[in-house]
Amino acid sequence: MKKNVLVAGCGSIGKRHALLLNARTDINIRLCDPVADNMDSICKEIKVEKTFVNYKDALCEKPDCVWICTPEALHSEMAVEALKLNIDVFCEKPVSDNISSAEKIITALKSSRAKMAVGYVLRYTKAYSSIKSLLDAGSIGNLVGAEVSLGAYDTLTCAKSDFYIRQPYSLILTYTHEFDYLRWFLGPVKEIIGFSNVLGNLPEKPSPNVAGAVLRFEKGPIATLMMDYIRSPGERTIRLTGDKGSMYYSSCDRKIYLSRYGVKDIEITDVSEERNTSFIKEHDNFFRYIAGEKAVTITVEDAMETLMTAQKLIDYMEK
Ligand SMILES: NC(=O)c1ccc[n+]([C@@H]2O[C@H](COP(=O)([O-])OP(=O)(O)OC[C@H]3O[C@@H](n4cnc5c(N)ncnc54)[C@H](O)[C@@H]3O)[C@@H](O)[C@H]2O)c1
Repeated sequence: MKKNVLVAGCGSIGKRHALLLNARTDINIRLCDPVADNMDSICKEIKVEKTFVNYKDALCEKPDCVWICTPEALHSEMAVEALKLNIDVFCEKPVSDNISSAEKIITALKSSRAKMAVGYVLRYTKAYSSIKSLLDAGSIGNLVGAEVSLGAYDTLTCAKSDFYIRQPYSLILTYTHEFDYLRWFLGPVKEIIGFSNVLGNLPEKPSPNVAGAVLRFEKGPIATLMMDYIRSPGERTIRLTGDKGSMYYSSCDRKIYLSRYGVKDIEITDVSEERNTSFIKEHDNFFRYIAGEKAVTITVEDAMETLMTAQKLIDYMEK
């Protein structure tokens, strides 16, 4: 029997999820968004079973799963409401915009029969999963550090709502992606410090729009992170240094450059792929998880650790 999936939040990422979920043969799509135009833009492209302007009304009709694609300040409340009704939840990252409301999800999960996963989609990309495999295979030896850079002005202009601009520290919360994969590659974070500012003269200026951080990991490595809502087109880079070699990846050319000490040639791997591929893998992981066939890639507890790292950085910046 087909599953009824409610996509809550039909903006930039909600539309992508809805179209990709619709391409599966086992799903009926329902939509929920207080802005009817945002739902209409999806209804023009796919067959939608039902639309709702109110989330509680949508839950009353008992969907099998909810896809939470709303601004982060709404994630916790919406997840908790669904979990109380034993409805499975896929929640876009970050799990919440603050720790205390994320804890409410963990409490709700304990007394629910439903399951929940969080969407850090980079883990499903060819680029970041290849880096992880190379690290696990010991390609660059013992890791000593990382340099990460992220520029994402286009996020502000592609969104259907203005929450990225209004929400303080949206740069850090939205790009918890970077904390998620750094934890995946380097393990738990011991310490994090950083600085932020509002700079430049672009039309959209969230506060902050520039941030820099230094992370120290429990196993010893040190990482630096530069993030901004300035660069357009956006880019993401990572350099990882180990005692047997180093690795560099840039989203601009979608290649991994692997240098091994004592080896003259740099090994270059093309990790380009169609953008939707990683989302399709993410969906597949979620459905196999709720069917009891597979472990989930990103648990709520894991996403909570990532949020706590981001929160520590925000606390430091606010001092
Ligand atoms: N995994 C990724 O690569 C990725 C990419 C983009 C965004 N995101 C995350 O997805 C979330 C949404 O981001 P976006 O860029 O799509 O934002 P957006 O502004 O484009 O969309 C948000 C949508 O939520 C709707 N909404 C607001 N209140 C609602 C409510 N009470 N009920 C239902 N809908 C409501 C808005 O009307 C809007 O359509 C954020 O948490 C963001 O961090 C993840």
